Amino acid sequence: MQLLAISGALRKGSTNTGLLRALKEMAPEGVTIDIATLHGIPLYDGDEEEAHGKPEAVKALDARIAKADGLIFACPEYNFSVPGVLKNATDWLSRRSTSFKWKRTGIVGAGAGFFHGTGRSQYHFRQNLQALQCIVMPRPEIFVNHNEEKFDKDGNLTDPTTRKFLGEWLTAFIEWVEKKP
Ligand SMILES: Cc1cc2nc3c(=O)[nH]c(=O)nc-3n(C[C@H](O)[C@H](O)[C@H](O)COP(=O)(O)O)c2cc1C
Repeated sequence: MQLLAISGALRKGSTNTGLLRALKEMAPEGVTIDIATLHGIPLYDGDEEEAHGKPEAVKALDARIAKADGLIFACPEYNFSVPGVLKNATDWLSRRSTSFKWKRTGIVGAGAGFFHGTGRSQYHFRQNLQALQCIVMPRPEIFVNHNEEKFDKDGNLTDPTTRKFLGEWLTAFIEWVEKKP
């Protein structure tokens, strides 16, 4: 099984990208998790699309999505919602593409402080994914709060309890992908 994990954050020390690295490390035999970032994707511009089609960075990511058995998104929370970088990428990707259709998909996320650990943004992102016709795993869900305590300065997950829950999430997600009709 080949899974593609896409981070909605660009910064090097991102804890959301760190969550994806942790998932990659814990993938069982027979499951590979490739990590993609959204660097190099320009802002969506309909004139640019009409003149030149999709940018190369978008086409390359679209091809990786098409090949994957399942998708995992790490979705940070910005101003109670999905970061523009991630929304913009899905806007480009959705154009004249059926890569997302029926793709088994999971969402994870990590945020700072005591709050909802990206709960609000994950729920908004689920709605975006509905437009793309992804089949998003309903539960378990994973909302990692207090990321300032659970990751090191490079964004590596250091908290054993979070790692345990993340492992359980991954087991459920693999089953969700396997049971694809
Ligand atoms: C523009 C901006 C808006 C943010 N808004 C929220 C928010 O609404 N809720 C929240 O919990 N955290 C918010 N944060 C904090 C981020 O969730 C936090 O910085 C998190 O670590 C970002 O994810 P990363 O570690 O993957 O970069 C915001 C951060 C930025 C830069």
